[in-house]
Amino acid sequence: MFWELLQNVNIAIALVFFSVFMLIYYITRMPSDIPPYPRPVLPIFGNLLILANRDMLMCFRKLRAQYGDIFSIYMGSKLIVVLNGYSVVKEALVKNGRVFSDRPINFLTEVLFKGSGITFTSGEKWKEHRRFAMNALQEFGFGRSSMEDSIIQEAKEMVQIFDDENGQPFQIKGVVTTCVANVVSQIIFGQRFKHTDPHFREFLSILDNATKTLSNASVAVNCFPWLQYFPGDPLKMKLIKEHVTQVVQWYKDMHEEHKSTYKEGAERDFIDLYIKEARRQEKNGQISTFTDTQLYFSIGDLISAGSDTTANTIQWTLLHFLNFPEIQQKCFQEIEQVVGRARLPTLQDKDHLPYLEATILEVLRLCPAAPLALPHAVSEDFSFHGYRISKGTTVLINLDSVLRDPSSFKEPERFFPERFLDADGHLIKPEEHIPFSIGRRVCLGENVARMEIFLFLAALIQTFEFRPVEGEPLPELKGIMGITYSPKSFLIRAMKRK
Ligand code: HEM
Repeated sequence: MFWELLQNVNIAIALVFFSVFMLIYYITRMPSDIPPYPRPVLPIFGNLLILANRDMLMCFRKLRAQYGDIFSIYMGSKLIVVLNGYSVVKEALVKNGRVFSDRPINFLTEVLFKGSGITFTSGEKWKEHRRFAMNALQEFGFGRSSMEDSIIQEAKEMVQIFDDENGQPFQIKGVVTTCVANVVSQIIFGQRFKHTDPHFREFLSILDNATKTLSNASVAVNCFPWLQYFPGDPLKMKLIKEHVTQVVQWYKDMHEEHKSTYKEGAERDFIDLYIKEARRQEKNGQISTFTDTQLYFSIGDLISAGSDTTANTIQWTLLHFLNFPEIQQKCFQEIEQVVGRARLPTLQDKDHLPYLEATILEVLRLCPAAPLALPHAVSEDFSFHGYRISKGTTVLINLDSVLRDPSSFKEPERFFPERFLDADGHLIKPEEHIPFSIGRRVCLGENVARMEIFLFLAALIQTFEFRPVEGEPLPELKGIMGITYSPKSFLIRAMKRK
């Protein structure tokens, strides 16, 4: 009995000693010249416990107040550097853009996306395909007046579907996402789809599933990269692969269809331009990166980056209108005075609708689609503000810290479009207003997005007054942080203006 007790005590003491030893070993082996980070850093979990069950953006706000504009955080075993405030962000992305413009490499980008596409690639391949996509967007997107026509066409459709609800409460997410996806679809596939088209609906639902599963897995893979080797598939990789394969199959079918009808010199859309470039490079005997796989992942990047982001901004604006009806009223009065009710607003009206423009800027400031941009990585070992950041380290660009910085935006938490107007009511856009990020990775679809947000919202505000559901509490203005920052689902009534 006595010996048994002694043995148990010994084991307990040994365990305590071992844990203390491990903790001391872990703490002392932490590098000292990296940006400051919260302590303790626990084995396996790193600093994750301070993030657990908390809003990541709130958490970063606190860490910035404690450690300054440059801090780091251990997500599991992985060190992540977080940059805050306009001057540091600009210094990294613009002055040192050559170093800070890579993307991190991980299991998702390499195995799942096959190191292809635009959003998650780096180096020469990224440069070549980003340039190509920019030119294609210019040619079939914001550089053409037909682009405006096709957005207005979608806006009409949106107005009609809202009208069909007869002022009853409904969820706008599905309609808005489909109309916005149709705009990108016209640039890429050269065609729009009916909202009732079962093939398109199926595609959007597969895309939604893929985005959700990827959003969860990307956090887990980044924090615990070793989980991918665990038996039992804890990251649900099989399911994610299935979703990605289904989406890619859709793009493959579209590509095949395009190849069979392609006519050189009469390119209809992004896919045709890609076919032309791939054939040109093949003819020249070049070793080309214009492969089929690269095409599918570029399409995927444009569709996923171009749909939810813009759709969220439209939803966020209408959600704010429920909470701030006087701002909605001012937007409407401006449209009524400048455009009237007989025709839909066009891009020519944009400069004459500064209050609406200011409202859009304010929504993008408080509810940016990607408050932490997309993860960046440094392309070489680099010393920044005296801190060592080693090659490949993930760097998060905290756009939220810039957009809510009281030194640039007075009373930053307040929804106040007037901050973007001067005494004469003219629009002013401060340099620090960067919801599309800055530097070499700046959003590739910024021009298309700005056109869409303006035209869709102007048409909706001209036609409807948006009201909350009677007798229900107002929907929350706090969002959900996934791949994009989106509002929680809410009901709204679209009352046709008399
Ligand atoms: C409200 C709408 C949008 C917002 C706020 C937005 C914002 C952003 C942000 C913050 C980034 C990350 C930049 C960085 O990593 O530093 C980004 C990247 C990107 N966006 Fe957008 N975006 C929007 C709409 C669009 C649209 C309509 C398209 C395409 C038609 C698009 C295509 C892309 C692509 C391809 C990238 C990756 C660029 C690269 O890695 O080189 N975005 N966007």
